[in-house]
Amino acid sequence: MIKIALKNISFLEKVSKIPILKYFFILKISEKFNEISSDTVLEKFYTDIYVSNKTSKRTYKNRFPDLNEISSEIIKEQKNPVIHDIAVSSGISSSEFYDFLIQNKLNSDFYISDKFAEIFVKKGFFTKAFDAENNLVFAYAGCFFAVDKNIYFPLTVLLHKILKKQKTPENFDYKLLLFHPDVLKKINTGELKFINYNIFQTKISEKFTFVRVMNILNLGYFNGEEVKTALKNILISMKENAVLLIGRTNSEGINNAGFYRKQNKKLIHLKDINKGSEIKHIIENL
Ligand SMILES: C[S@@+](CC[C@H](N)C(=O)[O-])C[C@H]1O[C@@H](n2cnc3c(N)ncnc32)[C@H](O)[C@@H]1O
Repeated sequence: MIKIALKNISFLEKVSKIPILKYFFILKISEKFNEISSDTVLEKFYTDIYVSNKTSKRTYKNRFPDLNEISSEIIKEQKNPVIHDIAVSSGISSSEFYDFLIQNKLNSDFYISDKFAEIFVKKGFFTKAFDAENNLVFAYAGCFFAVDKNIYFPLTVLLHKILKKQKTPENFDYKLLLFHPDVLKKINTGELKFINYNIFQTKISEKFTFVRVMNILNLGYFNGEEVKTALKNILISMKENAVLLIGRTNSEGINNAGFYRKQNKKLIHLKDINKGSEIKHIIENL
């Protein structure tokens, strides 16, 4: 069955839509990720995963054309742009942003990060996948779906509870870097640089001239205090006059976002797109 799946992308696309089968198939063929050209399959695998802090990895192609346009105008004014795209999930929108800048003849140092970019896999009777915090994300036994904490079949809920109680393995058989193949290629060529960055903990001092934080610091995910902590870390990471783009895509696909400039340790409002960021009250009172 695995052989058929690998050779037949339309079969894989169908399978990837079936929650109880997708992880089994996709993990089995994970070494071949770079060869999978189907975005339907990739999107399912990368972005349906819910990580332990309840944020989702949902992202998709062509999400920010409006924001890329304005961002490139801002970056054009910068001498040696150093960009950081935070919490990028599969990174597809970073790759598109990078390509857009290159089309506009804008060179930059482009960094991407996502705390849960890596998944650690332990094979066994139950093959288990863990996130960066050692939490069980999903598991399967044989070719049967076993566990995904977000799919509520009574049996899977029970299995999830049981498996979660087991000791986390001390070492893993392999790890997956959950980036889109376009992103992996750009990482290999050095066009994009992957860095470890936890939005609540990592402190980088005055490095970036442009920081993008989309669809992570949402009030649905984190409370005001947590958002504040993350924003302070981001502010530290920005050079004087650097620009922050922050916001959220709504259920209709509209980007509500704001641009802010760092001046004297504050974030000064530059421009809103659509309704602006839902956390503008926090940003402006940092
Ligand atoms: C909804 S996705 C946003 C993807 C992309 N920025 C976009 O807007 O299309 C949120 C991402 O935040 C990441 N994430 C969650 N907690 C994080 C943390 N503490 N630090 C950094 N990234 C985190 C998740 O792994 C997930 O990939």
